[in-house]
Amino acid sequence: MDDGAGGACVIVYDEKDMKNTRVGCYPTLACLYSIIPRDVRLHMERVGIYAAVFYRHLMKEHPDLLEPLNHELDDCYQDLYTLHDIGRAFVPVRFQNKAGGLTDEEFAQIKQHTVLTADTLDSIYILPFTASVQMHLFNISMYHHERYDGRGYPFGISQEQIPLEARICSLADAYDGMTSWKPYRKNMPIEKVRTIILEEAGKQFTPSLSLAFAECMDQMPREELNEAWEAHAGRYFGRNTKVSVG
Ligand SMILES: [Fe+2]
Ligand SMILES: [Fe+2]
Repeated sequence: MDDGAGGACVIVYDEKDMKNTRVGCYPTLACLYSIIPRDVRLHMERVGIYAAVFYRHLMKEHPDLLEPLNHELDDCYQDLYTLHDIGRAFVPVRFQNKAGGLTDEEFAQIKQHTVLTADTLDSIYILPFTASVQMHLFNISMYHHERYDGRGYPFGISQEQIPLEARICSLADAYDGMTSWKPYRKNMPIEKVRTIILEEAGKQFTPSLSLAFAECMDQMPREELNEAWEAHAGRYFGRNTKVSVG
């Protein structure tokens, strides 16, 4: 259904219908999602998949670690983690995935995708989530680049000041950063990735979450996702181009 303004379709979901839906089923959200550059969207999809594997592992093996979330993400965690970089929709496209690397100022613009989450969500006139789920989406998008030791951005908050759902996301996000194909370097061996995940416990990551993530790394569908990414990125960017995703 067209909304008459050349914009998004509008569908209001009953709460029961929110279960088992995908991002593409959320019309106004999907419109914003679709203006994000494709390679960033592929990164977002991979992070959603990795975070979902991690979240399921936590539910099964470490439910105590998820207690603060009160099961509020249990029906929609993959979508929420896929949307972690939704603030990218409001980053000027000239700064996104610019060939040849970014200046400090351009990188600062990319980092704004965290605080731009508020503008992004404010621009969606009918949200497909309940208020509590939307709060989790906000937390994931705003705080997923914070670090456990307080050296992250945008606010430099630390430890449990960072919402748990965002601390979960930072592991999946970093995992994709290390394992996805890059035109300017060889794939990082998976054992090196595991070592870094564990070494960063208490620095970038929550110690208990680092350990739990390392436990489930073998369940990540890495090879298939990387092949698709390599085919896409190699075609569009060439092998000597630096690609930066958030
Ligand atoms: Fe990201
Ligand atoms: Fe990000």
